[in-house]
Amino acid sequence: MENLVSHHSVVLLGISGSPRKASTAFVIREALAYAAKKSKAKTDYFSLQGKGINFCVHCDYCIRERKGCIQKDSMTEAYEKMEEAEAFIIGTPVYNGSVSGQLKTFFDRCRGMVAKNPDALKNKVGAGVAVGGDRLGGQELALLTIHSFYQANKMIPVGGGPFGANLGGAVWSRDLGEEGARKDAEGLRTVYKTVDRLVEVAIRLKESSNRT
Ligand SMILES: Cc1cc2nc3c(=O)[nH]c(=O)nc-3n(C[C@H](O)[C@H](O)[C@H](O)COP(=O)(O)O)c2cc1C
Repeated sequence: MENLVSHHSVVLLGISGSPRKASTAFVIREALAYAAKKSKAKTDYFSLQGKGINFCVHCDYCIRERKGCIQKDSMTEAYEKMEEAEAFIIGTPVYNGSVSGQLKTFFDRCRGMVAKNPDALKNKVGAGVAVGGDRLGGQELALLTIHSFYQANKMIPVGGGPFGANLGGAVWSRDLGEEGARKDAEGLRTVYKTVDRLVEVAIRLKESSNRT
């Protein structure tokens, strides 16, 4: 007989908002590996690198038709992954004190998915990671921008909790790509702490929805 009880705790999707395979991609992959090992999360990954995702052009097709976005590009794959995920960890390089343009475009393009189904992301849990070339380069504002996306789409944003990871993962790459991020032990600690909190909240929500 098929075993209907999944041995995974939650389905966690990691998204890297960098156009490069460098520090942000490394940190998100590290977060996913940590969640899989420590909490038995089933992990999935989507990188914006090389995807050429088009801007939302506010044509309002999604609002009129309620069939999703009229543009067919790599977002189609992303929508599918997002629908399946129960928890999200979105990472961004800090660009001019906020998220990358690539990640902002990704957020804007989610309008089509939510216009089709306003509850597409409802009650999914989300956390953020921001990687800056500077130690205080705008990581916190970038994290709040990720949280705004969650809030605007009925998701539940979580940080890492007090004493270390308040708003989420904050990493200092010193502009040295993956190697720089790897060496920021304190930054990686904020990422692990954030993942712990993210998985904890996602499991609680899943348990409570299974009871009702
Ligand atoms: C257009 C641009 C703007 C940037 N602005 C900032 C910034 O405001 N603050 C900061 O700390 N680093 C800034 N950086 C540096 C990147 O955030 C940093 O190198 C980061 O680790 C890059 O992530 P990646 O390795 O995943 O591409 C900027 C880089 C670029 C290309």
